[in-house]
Amino acid sequence: MNYASTIVGWGKALPSKSRTNADLSKLVDTDDEWIVSRTGIRERRIASDNETTFTLACDAANRALDQASLSAKDVDLVIVATLTPEYGFPSTASLVQDAIGATTAGAFDLNAACAGFAYGLAVARGFIESEMYRTIVLIGSDTMSRVVDWTDRSTCVLFGDGAGAVVLQRTDTPGGIGSTCLRSDGSGGPLLIQRAGGSRHPTSAQTLRDGSHYLRMNGREVYRFAVTATTEAAIAVMVDAGWTSNEVDLFIPHQANVRIIESAARSIGIPMDNVFVNADRYGNTSAGSIPIALCEALDHQRIQVGSKIITVGFGAGLAWAAHAITWTAPTASS
Ligand code: UT7
Repeated sequence: MNYASTIVGWGKALPSKSRTNADLSKLVDTDDEWIVSRTGIRERRIASDNETTFTLACDAANRALDQASLSAKDVDLVIVATLTPEYGFPSTASLVQDAIGATTAGAFDLNAACAGFAYGLAVARGFIESEMYRTIVLIGSDTMSRVVDWTDRSTCVLFGDGAGAVVLQRTDTPGGIGSTCLRSDGSGGPLLIQRAGGSRHPTSAQTLRDGSHYLRMNGREVYRFAVTATTEAAIAVMVDAGWTSNEVDLFIPHQANVRIIESAARSIGIPMDNVFVNADRYGNTSAGSIPIALCEALDHQRIQVGSKIITVGFGAGLAWAAHAITWTAPTASS
């Protein structure tokens, strides 16, 4: 029997506090016109002191399990994709496993930066299709507000906080995650990096003084990479799935910048009517971006049973990943 892996539950968690472009213009030398014209972002959610990568991840995971009508006791594995973990160690996934009551599950974190959720889908798929596990909770959760330099206008306007989760299960129904493409180009590592806090530059008075614990990015180079990587990975999974761009019902790209999304969609040949965009409201939520967008696409009845979906994540590494998914779970609109 050939088993497929399919998404059977989904949930998201976003901080309630919003920070608009007008709010940011009081912090740094920027304005709404620049941010909207260069990125499409209008506001983003910012975690309050008691909201963390872990709390958002737990909320999203519990909602996904409820949605799937499953108990945490059914879960075999918890994966948290994040680049802003709760602590250096233990893993955020172990904290989530305990908090949600997944008492018989394994747990680990996965760091592929903003591509983390997309990488996690491939990992979960492998565990399920090899028949090692039946039920996996995959969470993308990041609190980018904690690593952004709030005096650097070239990066602080881009990011927001949030989490999304899916429950994946083994099924003998055809569909689910059909094609996967994972890619990396480590030579681009310096283009998007948090230099301090690891083994190369442990946190010290000096790293705090020079601000190397903050995220730093070469925006123009990352932009170029993002458009090419998104286009190539989307086409790779589309071709592997045997679909043409006309057949794609919904494209759910990483929500880093609306211009990147529009440019990639044009190159792939997918009209913007078939592209899901929420970067205007949440900014770039890193590993949370794709699962949050997926949840909203489901809420807005943009997905039905049989829908052909392409997702692409990209980010620091450089790393990027894409999937072709045929939706199989009942939705509100099917
Ligand atoms: O998950 C992946 C993460 N990252 C990304 O996907 C980001 C990819 N890159 C981008 O989205 C774009 O490169 C940015 C939105 C970051 C920047 O847009 P850009 O069109 O590439 O602008 P730029 O970096 O070339 O800067 C143009 C000008 C500069 O001024 P000068 O040197 O021309 O006088 C910047 O200093 O815009 C200035 N600038 C700003 N001005 C007002 C940079 N940030 C701001 C700002 N407000 N927030």
